[in-house]
Amino acid sequence: MVRLPYLTALTTLFSYGLLFAFGQLRDFFRKIIDWFKSSSKDLKGYAPICLGLEDFYTRRLYLRIQDCFSRPIASAPDAWIDVVERYSNDNNKTLHRTSNTTKCLNLGSYNYLGFAAADEYCTPHVIDSLKKYSCSTCSVRVDGGTTDLHTELEELVARFVGKPAAITFGMGYVTNSAIIPVLIGKGGLIISDSLNHNSIVNGARGSGAAVRVFQHNNPSHLEDVLREQIAEGQPRTHRPWKKIIVIVEGIYSMEGELCQLPEIIAVCKKYKVYTYLDEAHSIGAVGKTGRGVCELLGVDPADVDIMMGTFTKSFGSCGGYIAASKEIIQYLKYTCPAYLYATSMSPPAVQQVISAIKVILGEDGSNRGAQKLARIRENSNFFRSELQKMGFEVLGDSDSPVMPIMLYNPAKIPAFSRECLRQNVAVVTVAFPATPLLLARARICISAAHSREDLIKGLEVISKVGDLAGIKYFPVEPPKHETQSHKKLE
Ligand SMILES: Cc1ncc(COP(=O)(O)O)c(C=O)c1O
Ligand SMILES: *[C@@H]1O[C@H](CO)[C@@H](O)[C@H](O)[C@H]1NC(C)=O
Ligand SMILES: *[C@@H]1O[C@H](CO)[C@@H](O)[C@H](O)[C@H]1NC(C)=O
Repeated sequence: MVRLPYLTALTTLFSYGLLFAFGQLRDFFRKIIDWFKSSSKDLKGYAPICLGLEDFYTRRLYLRIQDCFSRPIASAPDAWIDVVERYSNDNNKTLHRTSNTTKCLNLGSYNYLGFAAADEYCTPHVIDSLKKYSCSTCSVRVDGGTTDLHTELEELVARFVGKPAAITFGMGYVTNSAIIPVLIGKGGLIISDSLNHNSIVNGARGSGAAVRVFQHNNPSHLEDVLREQIAEGQPRTHRPWKKIIVIVEGIYSMEGELCQLPEIIAVCKKYKVYTYLDEAHSIGAVGKTGRGVCELLGVDPADVDIMMGTFTKSFGSCGGYIAASKEIIQYLKYTCPAYLYATSMSPPAVQQVISAIKVILGEDGSNRGAQKLARIRENSNFFRSELQKMGFEVLGDSDSPVMPIMLYNPAKIPAFSRECLRQNVAVVTVAFPATPLLLARARICISAAHSREDLIKGLEVISKVGDLAGIKYFPVEPPKHETQSHKKLE
């Protein structure tokens, strides 16, 4: 839960108000100037493509700090990365790359298990598959796009997540946005967590089903919404909904929070509605053997109807999967447009996932997988507790490798990001529209690839920059009696 301090809320609102007012003023003068020299840029009867508040936000707020985003990287997203230096001649309106790079500690990539960089087991297999199959199948799955690797991966994913069958796609985003409309449509009802990822939001909107939102990770509010919707039925006709699907995530990527899965599953079972679980950030990253939130929270995968996940985080590859009953997967293979009309996953990317899962399962003949899983948990819990001790407001649950540090104030976004970069620590900052306007944050992602020294270096820099930027909102005083009892012992 966010504990936005009252004064911070005020100053944050004030900052946005000021930015908004100046932006509007500049827009106003721009319009007058444009009116005087209206000739060359005249739209000649066309409606402008970019218009409205989103565009205003981009021009007047985002562009001021755009050097903090889309920074080019010139290496694999390992524990350390090479960040390309850029310069600007027009106050960061346009940025130009130089040939120089800076080596930075990477606290931003979703490389949870460290598979994103060269790996002694995965990389040779991937290179072999590249030579044998090439980068692309140049074909959709139902034509020439199904290689033996693709079928092997689908069997392996099903076995790994504990479902009878699986289907894979070239992109995680598409897995959600294309599958949800196949599962449900007009007359159906989607009940979605209020902080679900944009791919789910777009899939739900594109499905034609009615969408209702429940308060983030709140099973009792989910139950309220469900009960009300089941009682009322479809709007106007009040006929019963054709089907109801509840969609949640395993780990919320902007919050670092674990899903309250057991409680949510219990509610869904009570009302006999389907569950759809997006494990993009949790599969591979949490659970004793890396099998995600079901394993971590003690939920039987049989109780989750549709298990979705991506290969872009823990497995260091790209693509996404759906795992479910044999019947559902077969149905998706017959009907999903992203299966029928989109080129299949790149074979080396498929091989990367196969190899990574084999390492996780110990089927490569080593115990590196188990070590990585122990490491990500230790690293995450160490980093989180140290940040909390320093007085930062850190969101999320223990064991989660995602830990947002709240910044709030818009001026603190570039301050934090630039100053960390200057001290060779690459961090990701997130603001509106990815978060609510007032709740800007830096998002730290911890990896099994980080050594203890890496983490300590990161903590030192973040602590220093945190003092500079004034974001230690909840300073922790050491309890008085403890220091006294220490003195007595001495
Ligand atoms: C919860 C969730 N679902 C889906 C996706 C999309 O996956 P991909 O990046 O593999 O396209 C993401 C991406 O970060 C995500 O966080
Ligand atoms: C442009 O970006 C640089 C480096 O990121 C930063 O130091 C500088 O303050 C920015 N300039 C403006 C005008 O915002
Ligand atoms: C690259 O870095 C060197 C040393 O810091 C500097 O002298 C040089 O000007 C930089 N080159 C560019 C293109 O910025």
